[in-house]
Amino acid sequence: MAFEVYQLPEEHQAIRAAVRELCDAKVAPNAAEADEAAEFPQASYDALRASEFHAPHIPVEYGGAGADALATAIVIEEVARACVSTSLIPAVNKLGTMPLLLGASDELKDRYLPPVARGEAMFSYCLSEPEAGSDAGGMTTKAVRDGDDYVINGAKRWITNAGVSDYYTVFAVTEPGIGTRGISAFVVEKADPGVSFGAPEKKLGIKASPTREVYFDNVRIPASRMIGGPGEGFKIAMQTLDHTRVTIAAQAVGVAQGALDVARGYVRERQQFGKPIADFQGVQFMIADMGMKLEAARQLTYAAAARSERGDADLTYFGAAAKCFASDAAMEITTDAVQLLGGYGYTRDFPVERMMRDAKITQIYEGTNQVQRIVMARQLLKGIV
Ligand code: CAA
Repeated sequence: MAFEVYQLPEEHQAIRAAVRELCDAKVAPNAAEADEAAEFPQASYDALRASEFHAPHIPVEYGGAGADALATAIVIEEVARACVSTSLIPAVNKLGTMPLLLGASDELKDRYLPPVARGEAMFSYCLSEPEAGSDAGGMTTKAVRDGDDYVINGAKRWITNAGVSDYYTVFAVTEPGIGTRGISAFVVEKADPGVSFGAPEKKLGIKASPTREVYFDNVRIPASRMIGGPGEGFKIAMQTLDHTRVTIAAQAVGVAQGALDVARGYVRERQQFGKPIADFQGVQFMIADMGMKLEAARQLTYAAAARSERGDADLTYFGAAAKCFASDAAMEITTDAVQLLGGYGYTRDFPVERMMRDAKITQIYEGTNQVQRIVMARQLLKGIV
């Protein structure tokens, strides 16, 4: 029995080292300023693009780097360790394009994936609405067939990278009255007449990642822009989230690692009562718990990523479990990091307060952790896991 069986392949370790080096040099230095200004981190995006880490999951046949799900998770984890807002670039490029990879015609994939791979366009995902968040199937945005076109009307909310992205996967009701089976998915372009955006949301964290509403006012698009068949949209949306909840778990692991790194450096340096506070057992217990929770979150995330890559039947469960566990762990770890830094941790002189604010969203988006528990329970009770 080979002992290397249960460890990251060398290739993945090399990817981690490369992303970490890049992010230490070119992403982390921009993070505080981008947060403070609440501005899209263009310099960090440029750095990711130059190294093909902006959308690493795009297959080679569409001009991408062809990273598998585990490698993509590692990229997102390492970017999040430096700047969670920036990590939403590769994460949401995956979220927006996953519906195409799962269900689109070759024509749509050939047209829309290469520009993302080249870093010329970003892709956002439009599922949630003002009145349809956890109940995604309760959406009211409509797409009505008119000759060779569909005409879309409605509003989507909480759309990450809205306004910056050129392309949008939009879920809309094409057959009212039959619930989730009447929802279809489309590609809409920012340039399509009738597309507009709301004001940027003023958020607690991930401030450098723009979140806006997207409005569709008689947006006419060719029927060939439908992803999959009529009525397949909700299933495609859910299957997408099965894969991409793993990337949110990776973000959570990354920001937690970032906070632990800062905290352990600080407690070794900070002197109180005549010695480093790391010498106090109460501090050691906190550091130990942080490290333990982080590693458990990472292992579950990588286990889910492997299932995402293989397309295993239990991915729905593992994606939800990894996202839920890792984001709860990240909230605890980043909060403890602030605690360990005391008054300094509560200021913007250190990055842990930003990390704590940024960690919070990982418990909320791509389905709240309460929704993840519903998903997990259903899978367990059906006997799928
Ligand atoms: N894979 C394949 N099919 C699935 C599926 C999955 N994972 N989950 C559900 N389905 C199918 C079901 O089999 C069912 O199909 P049939 O009609 O053929 O039987 C259909 O979809 C409806 O399923 P449910 O009855 O389970 O649907 P529901 O209305 O009870 O909803 C839910 C279930 C889990 C609560 C779902 O609505 C959900 O995940 N809600 C949260 C939404 C969410 O995560 N939103 C985040 C938006 S992305 C984001 O955050 C934006 C950003 O920019 C970061």
